[in-house]
Amino acid sequence: MKLVISGKGGVGKTTIAAFLARALSKRVNVFLIDSDPSMNLNIMFGIKRPKPIAELKDIIRERTVINNGLYIMNPYVDDIIENYSAKIGNIKLMVLGTIEKAYSGCICPETAFLRALLRKLTVKEECLILDTEAGLEFIGRGLAEKFDVMLIVTEPSLKSVETSKRIYELSKDLGIKRIYCLPNKIYEESDLNFIKNNINFEIIHALPYDNKLKEIDTKGLTVFDINSKFYKDIEQLAEKLLSISKIQL
Ligand SMILES: Nc1ncnc2c1ncn2[C@@H]1O[C@H](COP(=O)(O)OP(=O)(O)OP(=O)(O)O)[C@@H](O)[C@H]1O
Ligand SMILES: [Mg+2]
Repeated sequence: MKLVISGKGGVGKTTIAAFLARALSKRVNVFLIDSDPSMNLNIMFGIKRPKPIAELKDIIRERTVINNGLYIMNPYVDDIIENYSAKIGNIKLMVLGTIEKAYSGCICPETAFLRALLRKLTVKEECLILDTEAGLEFIGRGLAEKFDVMLIVTEPSLKSVETSKRIYELSKDLGIKRIYCLPNKIYEESDLNFIKNNINFEIIHALPYDNKLKEIDTKGLTVFDINSKFYKDIEQLAEKLLSISKIQL
């Protein structure tokens, strides 16, 4: 399963990516990719951030650039996957980092390298989770192309619903087979009804509002410290995703 997690800023993408990695890693090896410029997925696991791939300037140039303006589109990346990912049990975490002018069709060496890396990972890894930056930018970066499932995290607000609908429309063209709405921060029934009434694509599961989650920011808790209803729901979501992708062990 190659899973992309998208949605408006602050809706809970990074939180959900990390908890899903925990739940799925009980059943399969999980490879988690942080493609958000704020690069904070490691905090969810209480570990130091691995070196962002985009910062490996010399390696990228050595392997990608032939001469001025000519790039190798399939550079060797296997060792990068091993050497620049952090290991947390059955989870590996890689941080992509930011590239200047990565979109608007620009094929700079960094973009070529990151795309090659993502292509390799989609072939090599059984369970990939890509945490994206807020909004629609990730589509332009061309990183989600070989992914098969997308969760568009949606909180009960008009702005979130509008962003989710735009992501849905644009993602259909990426060739992602299954795209679901994932309501988050559901405090009461009317919150979920609001999303149901405003979203015109399938809802996979609804995640509750959970006050305990703020202790990840305030008290340094990790995804392994929280076993509340939120996590039980994440486990149910993980089961649904496993049965959808038929990689049940
Ligand atoms: N179900 C929830 N209940 C309560 N708080 C939540 C829930 N999900 C996420 N949060 C909180 O919302 C805030 C934003 O979460 P997170 O960083 O995961 O969002 P994001 O979508 O990745 O944001 P960004 O767009 O900045 O990358 C965090 O403080 C997190 O603890
Ligand atoms: Mg985030």
